[in-house]
Amino acid sequence: MNTAEIDKTRIPEHIAVIMDGNGRWAKQKGKSRLFGHKNGVRAVRETIEAAAELGVKYLTLYAFSTENWNRPKAEVSGLMELLVITINKEIKTLMENNIALKAIGDLHSLPERCYKELMRAIRETAGNSKMTLILALSYSSKWELVNAANNLARDVKSGKVIPGEITEDTINSYLPASAFPDPELLIRTSGEHRISNFLLWQIAYAELYFTDKLWPDFRKDDFCHAIADYQKRERRFGKTSEQLVNSEN
Ligand code: FPP
Repeated sequence: MNTAEIDKTRIPEHIAVIMDGNGRWAKQKGKSRLFGHKNGVRAVRETIEAAAELGVKYLTLYAFSTENWNRPKAEVSGLMELLVITINKEIKTLMENNIALKAIGDLHSLPERCYKELMRAIRETAGNSKMTLILALSYSSKWELVNAANNLARDVKSGKVIPGEITEDTINSYLPASAFPDPELLIRTSGEHRISNFLLWQIAYAELYFTDKLWPDFRKDDFCHAIADYQKRERRFGKTSEQLVNSEN
């Protein structure tokens, strides 16, 4: 399946992806986990390209979770190095394709070089407007929510926020990931049916799509299948099918 076969009138505005299975892919080949991550870069590139071709406005990739810091030291430093190299290499492609790079997560916990390169890429691509690519780095939803609670408590104490007047929009304004519209579609590779602490607040109404493909094998064709599957679903947001039909007329 290719991007030409997709109905362009019903493309999700925001797609989030849990890229999983690099380690298992490498193990099947008798290679190191890092080899799996390196081979995951092609899948990243194909996904970005397909999303841009289809007119997706926001694409969020879960590249490194708060929990990933507990992995073996060599894997963590190898992944950070790979991130720096990939970001550096891809700036040109992001500029050519008018894609802005953003990041969410505990970015100050990243190694200095990684942080600097990331900020440089964000600065350089800030004026681009076709699509926004958001990297979730040292991110977890619970981390984001705890942070939000602390900041909100501080603002209540200083009188900036009145208890009892807190709304969904107030909460959103404390969540960096809510600076973008909520994802309508969440894709996870590798056959695991879990959310793994990713955008818990923001995916309240997202459609979930799981594929057995391991991330390094994920291609444009797989991305298109996920969107075609999404387009077959009826999104009711708590309403009945009849209410939806009536509101269309
Ligand atoms: C999950 O596979 C994947 C990751 C933790 C890292 C993903 C990173 C990349 C593909 C590198 C480049 C990315 C960007 C955005 C520049 P896993 O290691 O959890 O696999 P397993 O579940 O089989 O062990």
